[in-house]
Amino acid sequence: MLRPPETFTTARLSARPPQAGDAPAVFAAYASDPVVTRYLSWKAYEEVPPLEEFLAARAETWRTGTGHFGWLLHRRDTGDLIGSIGVELHARDALFGYVLGQKFWRQGLMTEALGHVVDWSLGQPGIYRAWAFCDVENPASARVMEKAGMQREGILRRWHVCPNMGPEPRDCIVCAKVK
Ligand SMILES: CC(C)(COP(=O)(O)OP(=O)(O)OC[C@H]1O[C@@H](n2cnc3c(N)ncnc32)[C@H](O)[C@@H]1OP(=O)(O)O)[C@@H](O)C(=O)NCCC(=O)NCCS
Repeated sequence: MLRPPETFTTARLSARPPQAGDAPAVFAAYASDPVVTRYLSWKAYEEVPPLEEFLAARAETWRTGTGHFGWLLHRRDTGDLIGSIGVELHARDALFGYVLGQKFWRQGLMTEALGHVVDWSLGQPGIYRAWAFCDVENPASARVMEKAGMQREGILRRWHVCPNMGPEPRDCIVCAKVK
């Protein structure tokens, strides 16, 4: 079974698996901010314990080798926890998702992280497609996908529920890099 590397570094970032004990730092960095979670599939956390449970489940993926492999991202210079990125590995494709604390936006940091993991995935013999999607009203995310080397393929209509935006599935921009 294909597994991503547990840790990686880029010019400005280091990445590692999460642990339940990271919950207070993750809560403070991004998970409690409703502006950050607006277009995500989860609502901002109002308290730390449920986030602890979520991170414990994410940590479990690294032990079992199946599920959504998530990394916490830190700035290498300051050590700050800035966000997270994750991948689901399917038979022939890798699907990415990512989130960054507001104060770290617009510095090219997520482009740096996404570009790295996209290239890792397409370096694996069985993976032909690295892809992601974002809400049609989330242009920063669409731009990150393009800057990370993916091409915009179109709109997945009625694809994803953003609980912060209402109960119905919303249209999403889909981008991919293939080999
Ligand atoms: C999407 C997100 C990860 C981007 O991270 P980031 O590190 O700020 O991204 P980068 O700095 O690498 O690139 C952002 C690009 O989007 C552009 N951008 C930012 N806000 C924009 C907006 N409102 N409209 C159009 N473009 C925008 C920036 O100008 C930049 O492009 P440029 O370099 O060509 O100028 C971050 O905004 C975030 O965490 N958002 C909340 C969570 C989220 O939506 N995650 C994605 C779910 S699909």
